[in-house]
This record gives sequence, structure tokens and C-alpha cells, in this order.
Amino acid sequence: MIKIAPSILSADFARLESELDTVKTADLLHCDVMDGLFVPNISFGIPVLKRVREITGLIMDTHLMIERPLRYVEQFAKLGSDIITVHAEADQPRQIIEALEEIRRQGKKSGISIKPGTPAAVLEPYMDLVDMILVMTVEPGFGGQSFMGDMLPKISCVRRMIEERGLDIDVEVDGGINADTAKLCVDAGANVLVAGSTIFGAASRPEAISSLRGNV
Ligand code: DX5
Ligand code: ZN
Repeated sequence: MIKIAPSILSADFARLESELDTVKTADLLHCDVMDGLFVPNISFGIPVLKRVREITGLIMDTHLMIERPLRYVEQFAKLGSDIITVHAEADQPRQIIEALEEIRRQGKKSGISIKPGTPAAVLEPYMDLVDMILVMTVEPGFGGQSFMGDMLPKISCVRRMIEERGLDIDVEVDGGINADTAKLCVDAGANVLVAGSTIFGAASRPEAISSLRGNV
């Protein structure tokens, strides 16, 4: 099943409650946390997501673009994230493994993400520790960038790695997703589609969500 995850980075933060109401036909709510170190931008953090948790019934999909995420995964779990994704590039493999184990210890789903320059082989040590793999299809840090078509073979490779091992792992894509690029990603093996500007920039958000699902 294809799951749609609107990214609140493109929402109007002054009207977050009504903004979230417009995307309730989606499956997940994608929340981009940026620390100004791992990526050259700062977004929002724990106090904001605590309130977001109170006003949405969607599955909270927290994408941590922060250095040494092990320091913070417990807090993002305790505030009510359902899925917490850390970046493979954000620490040494030992600490990334600890972060993924901690996420599961907290009773949450764990995700690992790789930036465009990171090969799929880097995921090897984490395959048995994750419920989701997030393949970035833009350089993380900003919404509204163009989809990188050369990530498609990596999406297929990740899907193959999962199948070869007989694992049940979602493949999420993030960055530049619109109805056209969504189809390319799904054909390559993705099943969770993040979209910020495509959904929040649309005249009808329910229609944008439905079109991303391939229903229009
Ligand atoms: C970028 C973020 C994305 C961003 C996607 O670093 O991880 O989730 O919000 O935005 P669009 O869909 O506009 O490319
Ligand atoms: Zn994201």
C-alpha cells in the first residue's frame, strides 16, 4: 500500500492546527527536525512537536536531521513520535545502532536515512534494526527543491536488499515528490511518499494527496 506523508515544513506555522486539518486524509505526518549542523538550516524541535502530537491523529513520522541523534531519540519518542528516523551520516555506526535500538526500546518504529551521496551499501549494518529506510531524493535541509532522478537506481537497490533478506521494511522517499516523480519512485520500489510543497502548495490538499496515491 502506498502511504502519503505531508511534510509540515511547507505548512503555515502560524496556523498549524487548521493546516493539519487539511491533510488528515494522508497516512503519516512527516516532521523535519533540523539542527543547523547536520544540515544548513534550523526548523523546529521538541516543544513544537509536543503540540503537533496533541492536534493530529496521523502517524507521526519524525525525520531527525541532527548530529549525534542518540542524544535526543528518547525525547522524540516520549513526546509521541510513532516513527523516528536518524541519518546514517550523523554519527559513527556504533552510535547509530544504539540510537536505532533505543528507538525500538521506546516502543517506536525506527528508520534510517541516507543522503544523495551515500551509497545503499552503508545500510547493511542496520537492516535488521529498522522498520523504514528513507532514501533522500534531494540534499536534506530545505523544501521545494527539484527531485534527483539519479536516486531511482538507489531506491531499487534498497528494495532489492530488503527482499533478498526477506524483511518487512518500508521504503520512504523525500524531496521533490510530485505526481510524476511519485510514480517513478513507486515503480522503483518506494511505498512511503513524503511531499511538502506539492501538498501544502496545492489549491486542494485532499486532491493533491489523492493524486500522489495515483488515484487521479
Ligand atoms: C528536506 C526535508 C523534506 C522537505 C521536502 O530536507 O527532509 O521533508 O520538507 O519538501 P518538498 O516535498 O517540498 O521537496
Ligand atoms: Zn524529511
